[in-house]
Amino acid sequence: MNPAKVFLVSLVIKFLLLQVSISKDTINTNELLADGETLVSSRQKFTLGFFTPGNSRNRYVGIWYTISGPMAESVVWVANREKPINDTSGVLSIDSKGNLVIYARNQTMNPIWSTNIVTVSSSMFTTSMAQLLDTGNLVLVGEDGTKSTVAWQSFDHPASMVLPGQKLGLDRGTGLNKILTSWKSQDDPATGEYSFWLVSLGCLEMFLYRGQVLWWRTGPWDGVKFNGVPEMTRHVIYTFSVVNNSHETSFTWGITDPTVTSSFYLDESGLINRGLWQDHDVKWVVFWAGPIVVCDYYGHCGPSSVCDPYNGGFECSCLPGFQPRSPNEWNSRDGTGGCVRKPGLQMCGHGDGFVKFEQAKLPDTTVARVDMSLDLQACELECLRDCSCMAYAVANISSGEGCTRWYGVLNDTGHFTYGGQDLYVRADASELAKYTKSSKGLLAKNGMLAVLVISLAVPFILVLCCLSWCMKRKRIDRSKDEFDEGLPCLDVHAISAATDNFSFSNKLGEGGFGSVYKGQLANGQEIAVKRLSATSRQGVEEFKNEVRLISKLQHKNLVRLYGCYIHGEEKMLIYEFLPNRSLNFFIFDETRRSTLDWSKRFEIILGIARGLLYLHQDSRLKIIHRDLKASNVLLDAAMNPKISDFGMAKIFGEDQTEDKTSRVMGTYGYMSPEYATHGRYSTKSDVFSYGVLMLEIISGRRNNDYVDEGPAMNLISHVWELWREGTPLDVVDPLLGQAFPTQEVLKCIQVGLLCVQENPADRPTMSATLSMLGNETALSSPRKPAFILETRHSNSDSSTPKTASVNNVSITVIEAR
Ligand SMILES: *[C@@H]1O[C@H](CO)[C@@H](O)[C@H](O)[C@H]1NC(C)=O
Ligand SMILES: *[C@@H]1O[C@H](CO)[C@@H](O)[C@H](O)[C@H]1NC(C)=O
Ligand SMILES: *[C@@H]1O[C@H](CO)[C@@H](O)[C@H](O)[C@H]1NC(C)=O
Ligand SMILES: *[C@@H]1O[C@H](CO)[C@@H](O)[C@H](O)[C@H]1NC(C)=O
Ligand SMILES: *[C@@H]1O[C@H](CO)[C@@H](O)[C@H](O)[C@H]1NC(C)=O
Repeated sequence: MNPAKVFLVSLVIKFLLLQVSISKDTINTNELLADGETLVSSRQKFTLGFFTPGNSRNRYVGIWYTISGPMAESVVWVANREKPINDTSGVLSIDSKGNLVIYARNQTMNPIWSTNIVTVSSSMFTTSMAQLLDTGNLVLVGEDGTKSTVAWQSFDHPASMVLPGQKLGLDRGTGLNKILTSWKSQDDPATGEYSFWLVSLGCLEMFLYRGQVLWWRTGPWDGVKFNGVPEMTRHVIYTFSVVNNSHETSFTWGITDPTVTSSFYLDESGLINRGLWQDHDVKWVVFWAGPIVVCDYYGHCGPSSVCDPYNGGFECSCLPGFQPRSPNEWNSRDGTGGCVRKPGLQMCGHGDGFVKFEQAKLPDTTVARVDMSLDLQACELECLRDCSCMAYAVANISSGEGCTRWYGVLNDTGHFTYGGQDLYVRADASELAKYTKSSKGLLAKNGMLAVLVISLAVPFILVLCCLSWCMKRKRIDRSKDEFDEGLPCLDVHAISAATDNFSFSNKLGEGGFGSVYKGQLANGQEIAVKRLSATSRQGVEEFKNEVRLISKLQHKNLVRLYGCYIHGEEKMLIYEFLPNRSLNFFIFDETRRSTLDWSKRFEIILGIARGLLYLHQDSRLKIIHRDLKASNVLLDAAMNPKISDFGMAKIFGEDQTEDKTSRVMGTYGYMSPEYATHGRYSTKSDVFSYGVLMLEIISGRRNNDYVDEGPAMNLISHVWELWREGTPLDVVDPLLGQAFPTQEVLKCIQVGLLCVQENPADRPTMSATLSMLGNETALSSPRKPAFILETRHSNSDSSTPKTASVNNVSITVIEAR
């Protein structure tokens, strides 16, 4: 027994002697704790008693945070997790041998659960009491005549939660390895599929397993944090420590602010959750959860690859000197096969060296060795000398000391936007030359030569603090909210905390669909929450459609979805917050528009085209947006456009070119004629909308703004007239003055007209559009655009704008989405 424990226990005993009456945090020998009775720790922080989880009918003995009661996310420990009691006859007591036991009343001889530490009654050793401490630890105190010791403690037998000060890992003295194991479900605390272990194979690292399968790695302990959890250093209220010595290998965490109540547990869906108790809401909020990003999942990109979820394209790429094992799979965005060595490379002793990866999640350390006596330079030499050494890195980043070297296949290497570590990967001379030349990417060559400093285009960091993602697995199965496989959903409490309970001051706007709120997570990250009104015409299907689609898309010109919430009528989408609102806010407002010079406008035009091209052809799916318009293009702080609102988007099969719907939804002025009148849509109907948008950006006028200038007049017809008269530049926004490159603007007008041609087949594809905008190629002459419409009906529906536009068949128009 270690001295600290002895000290603690003697304190406890002294404390008890002062108390004359039986303390309610303690069970003494020959006392019972019946179902319905509880022990409460001295400062009320923790309660022990019988409880029934979720919708179960069974009774369990457990410890929970007093403040929140025995909910799945606040149960700290469960005694009889595998052996429930089916009625309220259960009793907790210390039996005649000194074990803490649970049995059904009148069944003393057949305990349901026992600490099992004392097998024979001995006069030398007796246990005297069990006490629930304010740390959440239940200790069974024993005496051998001279001193008291802790004979057993719940901290040594964790269930799904680890408390501040509680150790996970191996006690080399007792051989006890303390791991977290998930519950089976929120109704059943029996050991579930997931387990979380501290391992010390090559390095000190934590592994999350799903059954026997390695599911997630935290990355090696780098002296400050686990390399694969950059967020660990961001939150100043937490402390972490990993110890490895001859007594133990352990991980512990703590809170520096005693007013904060925080939990750390492995939930039944395999997520490690960092919970934070919110006093004012009387709720647990998930402050951090992992694994969440695709690259978190072990082996997402297979061996010898790098997984980078932030590169804007396919997240998998091969390490230098490697190529995809199956190019076909790779092209269809399946990276699990990983990479194999390129043939014919001269490795080892032929001028090889190391390529430096910045901000890396270090590869699987199962094949790594640590040598604390080597510095980085010695590390490189040591690795270079041995041909089987594949990579090296600094072992302790805070001291810059020590050397970790990998001997074998590099698995599960990742890239972060911050908080990662430099990793040096062996490459042959030809690869080295390539990386030395390359001016961008994650790689730079290291060596005795100069270190190439690379500036990374750092995309938005996906730190989902506060957001409880329930991805894919069990949580969705048990969800009463009927959520589909694969939809990330969030905790409503985190959302409402972030938006100050949807306060008016956080409201960004309102539309036919409901309201948008600005929110700020506990870590300062800003989000936008689109809360759909119950009467929103975006039905559950459209909503799910949007979530499903956008959560799969990653492109810098598409707005990023963080998650959603759906429960009955309540539907919410959580996006990245874009401070400059939407394009219509700028281009249709004289003051704001004047801040957009031509080069900015051209960048926006190109950005939208890139986003659309990604949707049409470069993403894994072929997606028709169907509602591209100025208000659906959001702008970030640097005025980069991001296409949003996928409520009406449709996925096409690879060979499908067109579809037809009887339910036409879109916005006047942007809808192509074949869609508005016949319900036919294709990538070319998006191209039409894009053409309209481009002309609006150039002119600063809405397509529909020409109502007073005669029937059948709109921006398109106006531009067409000017084009035919040879004066297209007359349409250019006067606020641009003369400060624009004439040829470029002319080209844009022409491309815009090509995009709005009447016949969809005549319109260019988005890739053709982009290449026309980017190159000095000759452009074809536009044919008559689709703007003159045979009939013009007045519309009684006041919500639809009075414009000279299409109104035929059954058109449902959703405005101001
Ligand atoms: C409860 O458990 C006892 C003992 O395990 C068993 O005999 C009894 O049938 C169970 N009762 C119910 C209602 O399942
Ligand atoms: C248990 O014992 C008590 C008193 O000894 C008795 O009143 C009660 O009926 C017993 N219950 C059962 C289920 O046998
Ligand atoms: C951990 O400590 C043990 C015992 O001191 C030692 O043998 C082992 O190499 C250490 N492991 C790591 C990864 O530092
Ligand atoms: C890493 O370096 C820091 C700073 O020198 C030191 O305090 C810490 O103990 C080191 N950690 C390990 C695991 O060596
Ligand atoms: C790397 O991944 C491959 C394929 O998933 C696996 O066969 C191999 O054992 C892994 N290597 C290590 C060191 O874990």
